[in-house]
Amino acid sequence: MKFLMVCLGNICRSPIAEGIMKSKLAAANIQGKVDSAGVLSYHSGEAPDKRAISVAGKYQVDISGQVARQFRKSDFVDFDFILVMDRSVYAEIAALAQTEDERNKVRLFLEFAGINEITEVPDPYYGGQEGFEMVYNMLNEGCNRILFNLTK
Ligand code: 4NP
Repeated sequence: MKFLMVCLGNICRSPIAEGIMKSKLAAANIQGKVDSAGVLSYHSGEAPDKRAISVAGKYQVDISGQVARQFRKSDFVDFDFILVMDRSVYAEIAALAQTEDERNKVRLFLEFAGINEITEVPDPYYGGQEGFEMVYNMLNEGCNRILFNLTK
């Protein structure tokens, strides 16, 4: 199972998703690869946002060592599931796909998890810590359901 989590900046949502998924795979002794990337290159080379590090750390998920990078076309080859946080990210990434196979790998994270009431993980960048807490909870529930569905 090779997952790439993708958001806009790769400093808030997708690093948290990467950290949660990695820790759940390790806890369940499942082999896999998890990484994250952003649509933008603006924050490339940076650590995750302090608020993201803080909320993940609260749940014993250490994301402080992550380094932001931009999505690249080889990601379509290197990953099985490219899970995007919202529809604008979906549009940007799906537009880079060169085959139907590649485009089919791109899925809205929450829909892929089987959560259909809310389909987008909101960008918490311009809000406060409570937005990060909500995002963490959505991503945690999503990762639980994804692993449940893929391993049942
Ligand atoms: P993310 O949040 O996509 O969850 O990492 C953002 C971080 C930075 C920006 C936008 C969204 N930005 O425009 O700098």
